[in-house]
Amino acid sequence: MNHTRRTGSILSRRLAGAATWWQHRRRNGDADEAGESVADSRRVVVLASGNGSNLQALLDAGVEVVLVASDRADAYALERGRLAGVDTAVVRPADHPDRPAFDRALRDLVAAARPDAVCLAGFMRILGPEFVRAFPDRIVNTHPSLLPAFRGAHAVRDALAYGVRVSGCTVHLVDEEVDHGPVLFQAAVPVEDGDDEASLHERIKREEHRLLPLAVGLVAAGRVRTDGRRAWLTAEVPVD
Ligand code: GRF
Repeated sequence: MNHTRRTGSILSRRLAGAATWWQHRRRNGDADEAGESVADSRRVVVLASGNGSNLQALLDAGVEVVLVASDRADAYALERGRLAGVDTAVVRPADHPDRPAFDRALRDLVAAARPDAVCLAGFMRILGPEFVRAFPDRIVNTHPSLLPAFRGAHAVRDALAYGVRVSGCTVHLVDEEVDHGPVLFQAAVPVEDGDDEASLHERIKREEHRLLPLAVGLVAAGRVRTDGRRAWLTAEVPVD
């Protein structure tokens, strides 16, 4: 391949190039500057509360998930982790006296897994500073709207109720505000006539499944830097 190379692109403007670059390296098992495989050597912890289709997308993409943790013992995401041979754990808020104590317990569990990145894949708890400060610029969340529109737990329902014709997903770094950190990737998704919450959410999830593994891989590999709200890709990226 004869790519022109360029350094320091804004992730959101270089989506196509970054995707090409990452998939090419994964396919060929290229070595990075340290002489190790970028794709295979990074440790990722996933937090999930529900079905875990985004966790599945990470597993299917070959991301090295070393722990799946949930706040709910009945989360199907845990079963997906077990089926993939990944360690799983449950940390229930009800087992802790207050939210900071829950945050600390979860933080200690995750830190013990020595993650290069932490991925919130449908994790329905707000993480406090005790947790977020332990993994600066290393926590990735996916949210089913084009932020800053429709923050919160009912983003798809709220977008439909508002009557938008276009929604989408936002994959972003996590800071101490809810659904707020620097944007890594966004994808727009049309709202079709006759959509209900389930059908629109399914269409949005298809984009999440494409973008989340890419974002997590880049963050885990230390390829992302932030400057205020802007996220930058530090690796060389092929420009088509
Ligand atoms: C995703 O749409 C994510 O954006 C939201 O919760 C959903 C989780 O889906 N926070 P799944 O459990 O990964 O299927």
